[in-house]
Amino acid sequence: MNGRRILVTGAAGGIGTSLVAELLLQGARVLATDVDESGCRLLERRIGGRPEDGRLHTMPLDLTESGAPQRIVDRAIDRLGGLDGLVNNAGVEHRAALAEHGTADWTRVLEINLSAPFRLARAAAPALAGQPGAAIVNVCSIAVTGFAGQAAYDASKGGLLSLTRSLAVELGPLGVRANAVCPGFIDTPMLDASGLRGLAEKVAARLPLGRCGHPEEVAAAIVWLLGTSAGYVTGQALFVDGGMVRA
Ligand SMILES: NC(=O)c1ccc[n+]([C@@H]2O[C@H](COP(=O)([O-])OP(=O)(O)OC[C@H]3O[C@@H](n4cnc5c(N)ncnc54)[C@H](O)[C@@H]3O)[C@@H](O)[C@H]2O)c1
Repeated sequence: MNGRRILVTGAAGGIGTSLVAELLLQGARVLATDVDESGCRLLERRIGGRPEDGRLHTMPLDLTESGAPQRIVDRAIDRLGGLDGLVNNAGVEHRAALAEHGTADWTRVLEINLSAPFRLARAAAPALAGQPGAAIVNVCSIAVTGFAGQAAYDASKGGLLSLTRSLAVELGPLGVRANAVCPGFIDTPMLDASGLRGLAEKVAARLPLGRCGHPEEVAAAIVWLLGTSAGYVTGQALFVDGGMVRA
């Protein structure tokens, strides 16, 4: 990762924070963006390293604001001097039975989890094209397999996986790889925000690996897919789920 220039969304969250920390540890330069402004400041304080390093830049912004994806990509190119990788990690959960699932929630989840990654990939592709080892990693979910009571979330992550495969085929000839990571139950603030912690811990106990995952374990998979060791891997979904989809 030494010197690689990586744009990470959802950077102030559980997986995002671990990812940014690992990227910086491995020598990358990072534009970290998140709607959570105080989370961005905390990220700088906790893992920004010495200010003179200048390898971490944060940009608090809501991905659903008009023109936000293009502004984020422009800022990344400006601050990092180009772009070698994009990680679409920002996401929101929404749980509701179909009969109670509001259209506004459907639209909000699809906008953040699917439309924003599409817009970011579209904006980043010209900068990524031709950069040695350029890569996009989209953070999907085991939800791509389909669960009850989360229609919008499952549809958004299924769509994001299909988008990943489309990007792999279209951008491969330009030297850009695109892959997905599909986490299972990972111990992050999202488990509490979605009210899934109780269920997650019960289900996790019965998994082949018998526990929830750690954000660092998802970050490691993302970093591997971004790196040159995965140089012949594209269009794939890597499940980081403790064996959940095989159980
Ligand atoms: N934690 C899990 O069990 C789990 C499982 C499967 C997939 N995932 C996926 O992993 C990714 C990271 O999730 P996490 O567990 O770290 O959750 P998290 O809630 O800790 O982090 C998500 C981040 O996205 C940011 N975000 C949300 N809406 C945004 C917007 N409109 N604009 C900009 N940023 C926005 C949030 O502020 C937050 O910091 C998500 O895409 C999530 O769907 C998580």
